[in-house]
Amino acid sequence: MSLFQVYPLQPIAITKALGSHVWDDKGTEYLDMYGGHAVISIGHTHPHWVKRIEDQLHAMAFYSNSVIMPIQEELATALNKISGKQDYQLFLCNSGAEANENALKLASFHTGRKKIIAFSKAFHGRTSLAVAATDNPSIIAPVNETDNIIFLPFNDVEALTACFAKQGDEIAGVIIEGIQGVAGIYEATNIFLQTIRALCDKHGAVYIADSVQCGYGRSGKFFAHDYAGVNADIYSMAKGMGNGFPIGGILIAPSIKAKFGLLGTTFGGNPLACAAALAVLEVMEKENLIEAAIQKGKYLIEALKNTKGVKVVRGKGLMIGFEMETGLEDIRKVLLNDYKVFTGEAKPNVIRLLPSLSISTAEIDLFLKALTEASTQILNKTV
Ligand SMILES: Cc1ncc(COP(=O)(O)O)c(C=O)c1O
Repeated sequence: MSLFQVYPLQPIAITKALGSHVWDDKGTEYLDMYGGHAVISIGHTHPHWVKRIEDQLHAMAFYSNSVIMPIQEELATALNKISGKQDYQLFLCNSGAEANENALKLASFHTGRKKIIAFSKAFHGRTSLAVAATDNPSIIAPVNETDNIIFLPFNDVEALTACFAKQGDEIAGVIIEGIQGVAGIYEATNIFLQTIRALCDKHGAVYIADSVQCGYGRSGKFFAHDYAGVNADIYSMAKGMGNGFPIGGILIAPSIKAKFGLLGTTFGGNPLACAAALAVLEVMEKENLIEAAIQKGKYLIEALKNTKGVKVVRGKGLMIGFEMETGLEDIRKVLLNDYKVFTGEAKPNVIRLLPSLSISTAEIDLFLKALTEASTQILNKTV
């Protein structure tokens, strides 16, 4: 049986990983500036993470959500502490799309309304409502098309205010990434997020902070939305949450009340995933990784701005996008093939850097050297 060919694959088989490095089946070492798409938060196969999962595996791998699960409560307490969202409630699921799907459903249940505001270039996942709120018609199946999503221009306070003035009482929620990832690293402005908060308060709508990619410390704050100094009603999380072990979740404000049966999942919150997520938070705290994301991010962004051939740099912490000058469009290929460096991309021409928050300055320097050499190599070829 063949695999369903939905991924344009690099012809490389990665079989081993440690920290910010991965190895292919032939033993070639690569520097991972992509973090497996922002998933690797504390470093590949971190020993504490491995041990936590291993210990849990020996104790108990799974039981259903029909019994008390102390490890889920432990995770909720740890998340309250590190996020600063003290009285928020936790619902656990398995992925980013599921987290957003549950957040959107909850906004609708809570308000009794149907309309959701989403923004241009947004990506929220591939389940039915999450994909409908994603600004990419090519991945929305006909069955998922709905007129319940209102797309507005990103960071446009006037358009948002006008929409609420016209149909505010129909709006269940507003969903927004603190930093748009798939779009190519575009930050929501503080004033935009503050306006969302104010308009949601005024009209009784739910502010959903999609933190699947920009959350979990990557931006230098636990949630990138925190830079705006206002709280969302729901934060969705996944990617960095398990450092590669599948887990997602939503943090839910105390004003939104639970009811038995309202949400549910078989695997969400399973003990192995919770052990992985707890290990991530423990390592983040012990190794001061959120502060590291700020410091390393500043260093990398400054260095990129001063790198020949780099045209634009965007982002915060270790969520960085940059564009190269004309003639350097092939740089990702050269970085991978000749310099053994994985990077991410956003079409048409943005290179995304989403490394582990534990990346060292020496590893960042290795990347910068490779980038400079790769661009010189391309330019020399073209003259
Ligand atoms: C902002 C954002 N939301 C949601 C998702 C979907 O997450 P998942 O692929 O885990 O379903 C992604 C994935 O890239 C994302 O970047």
